[in-house]
Amino acid sequence: MKMLAVALTLSLSAPTLVAADDQALRAKAQTARLQPIPEVIEDPVDNPVTPEKVALGKMLFFDPRLSASGLISCNTCHNLGMGGDDNLPTSVGHGWQRGPRNAPTVFNAIFNVAQFWDGRAADLKAQAKGPIQAAVEMANEPAQVVATLQSMPEYVEHFAAAFPDAPEPVTFDNTAKAIEAFETTLVTPNAPFDRFMRGEDDALSATQKEGLALFINRGCTACHGGVNLGGQGYFPFGLLKRPGADILPPTDKGRFEVTRSATDEYVFRAAPLRNIALTAPYFHSGAIWDLKQAVAVMGTAQLGSEIGEGEATKIAAFLEALTGEVPTITYPILPAETETTPKPQP
Ligand code: HEC
Ligand code: HEC
Repeated sequence: MKMLAVALTLSLSAPTLVAADDQALRAKAQTARLQPIPEVIEDPVDNPVTPEKVALGKMLFFDPRLSASGLISCNTCHNLGMGGDDNLPTSVGHGWQRGPRNAPTVFNAIFNVAQFWDGRAADLKAQAKGPIQAAVEMANEPAQVVATLQSMPEYVEHFAAAFPDAPEPVTFDNTAKAIEAFETTLVTPNAPFDRFMRGEDDALSATQKEGLALFINRGCTACHGGVNLGGQGYFPFGLLKRPGADILPPTDKGRFEVTRSATDEYVFRAAPLRNIALTAPYFHSGAIWDLKQAVAVMGTAQLGSEIGEGEATKIAAFLEALTGEVPTITYPILPAETETTPKPQP
């Protein structure tokens, strides 16, 4: 009984967070390089964004005719109604083939320093050309994509409006640029975390604030910083203790395949954590479904310390405060096919 009384007094007398604490926590988060989503999104390199380009990019994002089978669009694996990913461990593409990696979300991808788990694409226009051609994804060829788009007069008009200065507007490059322009609109502002960073003390619950403090104090921010709380740098997955082969399959050496440097074996981009509560399963292998468990894996693998159930729950609560407002996206009506449109390939 005595002990219970002591515990009660302790929890009752524990200081409730006051505004000054909130200000200190906010300052700490700023020092740890955590940033809210900016109000103005800058144009990508060499690709000024116009409403015409965004409208075209949106059609292309949803158009399954960019794939050889005529069945798979970007939205198949990056479902904009479902957190911008496919919620599968690893993606399923052309001919029902299963790819080697989990699909990351396209929301806020514009803020990543480079694209893919290993950062092999410098930006979103370079990235977009990958899946269209990947044998396990859309399995198409650039010439076939251009022939398909060229065969539909409505697309030709949209390309001409999006690229008014181009002598030959319908190209594979411009397809990628239009998709990139659309992706600059796929940002999710006003997450509780953003509102807190902008001065709204009540945007985070007490547990989420404790989770944010732990996220900083435990050292997560050493790798997960910037607007996306990640997506900025590369680190060995298993810096201090290599996770099991289910989580880190030995066949996927990450950035090593990009740089061929031995020091890049099993190095991956620190994953961006915005909307993480919507994008299970986790890690490039998609092996973990539970966010608290993913946090615990990070503790042992990256920090060399156990994160207990209590702390993992608080950190996961904070990560849930990274879920932002998904923009309203009206499904585009896609241009009609003509008799010259190439037929789907098996
Ligand atoms: C068959 C499923 C599939 C299709 C179709 C697909 N993707 Fe992906 N996407 C993935 C997977 C899996 C990855 C991660 C691959 C890797 O890192 O090696 C990825 C990565 C990305 C990324 C990088 C995000 C990040 O955080 O690094 C972007 C952006 C993206 N895809 C956009 C697109 C666009 C645009 C299209 C259509 C042109 C598309 N994807 C089609 C499965 C798919
Ligand atoms: C040394 C750098 C480093 C530190 C420290 C670190 N991480 Fe990570 N984190 C990474 C890398 C790299 C990945 C990508 C792993 C992979 O390839 O699957 C990752 C992935 C994640 C994922 C999975 C994201 C997804 O989309 O599947 C979560 C969640 C995560 N980290 C949370 C945390 C938390 C919470 C902490 C602190 C307890 C932390 N990380 C500490 C580097 C780090």
